[in-house]
Amino acid sequence: MTTILHLDSSITGEASVSRQVSSGIVDALVAADPAATVIHRDLAADPLPHLTLDAVADRAVLGEFLAADVIVIGAPMYNFSLPTQLKAWIDRILIAGVTFRYGPNGPEGLAGGRRVIVALARGGFYGADAPARAFEHLETYLSTAFGFIGITPEFVVADGIATGPEGRETALAQALAQANDSALQMAA
Ligand SMILES: Cc1cc2nc3c(=O)[nH]c(=O)nc-3n(C[C@H](O)[C@H](O)[C@H](O)COP(=O)(O)O)c2cc1C
Repeated sequence: MTTILHLDSSITGEASVSRQVSSGIVDALVAADPAATVIHRDLAADPLPHLTLDAVADRAVLGEFLAADVIVIGAPMYNFSLPTQLKAWIDRILIAGVTFRYGPNGPEGLAGGRRVIVALARGGFYGADAPARAFEHLETYLSTAFGFIGITPEFVVADGIATGPEGRETALAQALAQANDSALQMAA
C-alpha cells in the first residue's frame, strides 16, 4: 500500500498557493490510488525546532520520511529561498550513514526509490531563462538536497503570484491542472 507524506510550510494559511497546489497533487494521487494512506505534517502550524545535536539523534521525522513512498511538499519562496520551517525538516532527513554516505567515489544517495513532488509558489518568475534565475535558491536548493540523497524531485510550479490577481489566478490554475495531469498520476 502506498504511503504519501504531505508536507506544507507556507505561513499564509487559507490564502496559500503552495498549500492549494500540494493538496491538489495529493488529491490526484489518491484519486489514482484510493488505498493510499496520507500523513499530513504542517510545518508552519507545528514547527520543528532549529537543528541541535539532540535533534539529530531523534530519528522520528527521518523515520516518517523513510516510511513514505511519495512525499508531496508545499514550498513557498520566501526571501529567495525556502521557509526555515521546511529547512528544519530537511535538516532531519539528510543524515550521514542513513540517507547518504561518503564512499571511495564521493557522496552516495541512499534514499532513492521514493517520489518527491514539490509544489513551488513564487512571487516572481524564476524559470531557467528568466533574468531572476540567479536569485533562485528554492528549486535549486531542493534539487540539490534531494539529489544528494538519491532522489530527483518533480516540480509543479506556480510563478508570478505577486504580479496581481490575474497573474496569481493564471499561475494557480496552471499548477492545479499540472497537479491533475494524468502523467503525474500514472507515475505514482
Ligand atoms: C515573507 C515573504 C517573503 C517572500 N519572498 C519572496 C521572494 O524572495 N521572491 C519572490 O519571488 N516572492 C517572494 N514572496 C512571494 C511568495 O513567494 C508568494 O506569495 C507565494 O505565493 C508564497 O507561497 P504561498 O502562497 O504558499 O504562501 C514572499 C512572500 C512572503 C510572505
